[in-house]
Amino acid sequence: MAKSLNTRAHSAKICWQVIDQGRSLDGALADYVSQYRPNPKDKGFVQEVVYGVCRWYGELDSVASKYLKTPIRKKDRVIHFLLLVGFYQLRHLQTAKHAAVAETVGACKQLNKIWAKKLVNGCLRNYQRNPAEVADATSASHPKWLREEISKAWPNHALAIQHANNQRPPMCIRVNRGFNTRDDYLNQLKDVGIAANSDPYSQDGIILDKAVNVSLLPGFDLGWCSVQDTAAQLAADILDIRHGHHILDACAAPGGKTAHILERLDNTGLLHAVDISEARCQQLDETLRRLNLKAERFVGDASSEVSWPAPEDGYDRILVDSPCSGLGVIRRHPDIKHHRRPSDIAALNRSQAALLENLWGLLKPQGKLLYMTCSILPSENENQIEQFIAKKNNLIICDVKHPNALELKHGLQTLPGVHNMDGFYYCLLQKC
Ligand SMILES: C[S@@+](CC[C@H](N)C(=O)[O-])C[C@H]1O[C@@H](n2cnc3c(N)ncnc32)[C@H](O)[C@@H]1O
Repeated sequence: MAKSLNTRAHSAKICWQVIDQGRSLDGALADYVSQYRPNPKDKGFVQEVVYGVCRWYGELDSVASKYLKTPIRKKDRVIHFLLLVGFYQLRHLQTAKHAAVAETVGACKQLNKIWAKKLVNGCLRNYQRNPAEVADATSASHPKWLREEISKAWPNHALAIQHANNQRPPMCIRVNRGFNTRDDYLNQLKDVGIAANSDPYSQDGIILDKAVNVSLLPGFDLGWCSVQDTAAQLAADILDIRHGHHILDACAAPGGKTAHILERLDNTGLLHAVDISEARCQQLDETLRRLNLKAERFVGDASSEVSWPAPEDGYDRILVDSPCSGLGVIRRHPDIKHHRRPSDIAALNRSQAALLENLWGLLKPQGKLLYMTCSILPSENENQIEQFIAKKNNLIICDVKHPNALELKHGLQTLPGVHNMDGFYYCLLQKC
């Protein structure tokens, strides 16, 4: 095991890797955990801090600039992130202030930057004496292009969306009907002291009052439940699955929705799970293994010639959980704000159109295809569908309703901050 640094030093290194070097937050945290095996308290603290710094980066960066006489040199950027870790604790956490400052200053030595102790100590103590204000900290913590896209798409909801993007989201779980009813599982949670309520918007959903480690959830290792946002749970309902159906989940990994569909199929029918990424297919295998579910899964490109044994008469149902910008799930993945570039959207739009075009050919007459994304941008959602239906004369758009979603001309949209769930788009198409 590698020699462990203090939690502030680890947090600064992870933020530096994620924000400056483009690493995924999940990947950087997973490496930290597997390399250093932190105790649950330290792991929880580092997770809280790195998510927090990614969420509030714009605000914290602006605070730092008020106390630094000159910007920190590029080769010492880890110290810049250590300062942000310090400001995050002082502004957003209940950590005792003297411990926050002392531990953050102590991290300089651990990062082999003893020279920075005076600088970090001076900035944090000046802040304590004279705390800087940041006007509109939530907006400051979204890149300008993203603020503009959100305002353009949802002028009446833009502030609510940005606000939700910067909050800690609730922990939502999906009960596996194969083992327990939702009411039974709620009772089991109560028995182990986990406060929770049924999710009013998803038949299988439960929302916990407070996030907990999954190992504390009854039967988690046995597959009794999964962690999944309410919005993602809506897919299985909207897809209108019947026992015995042949279903294609065309962008399936890591398998959250594949598993939900299989739980609904209840060992009837057949599910083909396809994904282009071999590594992500392995995550899908692990999801299904834990839940004790079986699908035929294939590594393949669903936007070009079919490389798996698709039924000759087509599928009854196809789920296209399309690759997208992820701009609807920023509250769960705040690193998206740092990694996504406006120029990514056009390439994603091309992949989405190619997937729709290719997969439509695999649908049975009367079959249904659900196109969905975890994005709130019209170009990935309703505009994509408009362009697709303009080329087809053998489809109808199914009239799908949900009490907690916006009904668009074509499809449904959920928005963080408006519907108390992640931002997803769904459009169910039927072949005539
Ligand atoms: C939004 S994620 C799917 C999440 C998954 N449905 C779930 O619920 O866990 C999109 C997936 O599409 C896959 N993908 C991207 N392009 C693809 C393609 N051309 N063919 C098949 N899969 C593709 C990505 O590897 C990624 O795993």
